[in-house]
Amino acid sequence: MRRAYIDAIGMYVPENVVTNKDLEAMMDTSDEWIRERSGIQERHHVRGESTTDLALKASEEALAKAGMVAADIEHIIFSTMANDYFVPGGGPMMTRRLGIPGTPAVDIRMACSGFLYGLSIAKAFIESGAHDNVLLITSEVQSVALDFSTAGRDTAVLFGDGAAATILKATDEDRGLISIKTHSDGRYAEDLMLRTPSTLDNPFLTKELLDKGYGRVVMNGRSVFKHAVTKFPAVIMEALDAAGVDKKEIKLVVPHQANLRITEAVANRLDLELHKVVYSNIHKYGNTTSASIPIALYEAMQEGKINRGDTIVVASFGAGFTWGASVIKW
Ligand code: ACO
Repeated sequence: MRRAYIDAIGMYVPENVVTNKDLEAMMDTSDEWIRERSGIQERHHVRGESTTDLALKASEEALAKAGMVAADIEHIIFSTMANDYFVPGGGPMMTRRLGIPGTPAVDIRMACSGFLYGLSIAKAFIESGAHDNVLLITSEVQSVALDFSTAGRDTAVLFGDGAAATILKATDEDRGLISIKTHSDGRYAEDLMLRTPSTLDNPFLTKELLDKGYGRVVMNGRSVFKHAVTKFPAVIMEALDAAGVDKKEIKLVVPHQANLRITEAVANRLDLELHKVVYSNIHKYGNTTSASIPIALYEAMQEGKINRGDTIVVASFGAGFTWGASVIKW
């Protein structure tokens, strides 16, 4: 059977490191509070770099690892919460940045589940025979939309900037994306959102709207936590069932790096050993939204935790709400 598999991943985070101590100087918070509640020690924030700047660096590494040049890419899928421009999207922009005008590109805005939704689109493109390869870019610049005053501290301390680029290719071998399950539920849209610019307002961008804080990310942390700790395990079990794979066969679970406490709760509910089976690198990067899973996959591979033939599960939960999981035979 023709399948899609992950051939190469590139990643890039901005050089500028922001520690919890640095945040203490901007708002009323503490290193201890942030570590205890989220597991985060530091994150990277841009200094003048844009979403496609990060995306370009990650894509160049992925192409080099795959032994490809940009012109070999058949389709781009671009996932972000924050584009260089409100319109057009980052996908078409990347054809310019990579020097491949005319290449088809689609933007997706599925927040923390962008990687899972991107995989599901790439899987369909490749399994149907429409394309032999896809470049899935997940690039996130959150720091410019956060409120670094005490009023925004519950959200601002959690997010970081970063990008990953994942090249998927077709194979007839017994490997690759075995199953994917994705979900969304707009009843909770306001529990994690960035409102402005919005068609609810006419004109959709004014100083008054920005003064109200509508240009900042806002979150109902308790609601996010409550839903995340039930949806993550449920969708992982759903993806395992669809793949016909038992929990015991999992070599590694790579969840969206939302928050270490969420990851711990998910590991407990699934009865998985956190430090052996569930990967976490949130202490270094914070929550990089749709880039977090491929950045974690990249580092897990580098650390020798993922090898050819291993059964891996990736899973996400985020704004929308959106959530999903995939079983991957590496
Ligand atoms: N530093 C210090 N104090 C803070 C901070 C901060 N950065 N942020 C909030 N507080 C204060 C609040 O003002 C509140 O104070 P009050 O009690 O005087 O009103 C208090 O801390 C709240 O403390 P807790 O009730 O212990 O907070 P809680 O346990 O609810 O933790 C948190 C808050 C960490 C946001 C939690 O709700 C959570 O983990 N939610 C999930 C959110 C998340 O991970 N989002 C990631 C993005 S979504 C995704 O990727 C899935």
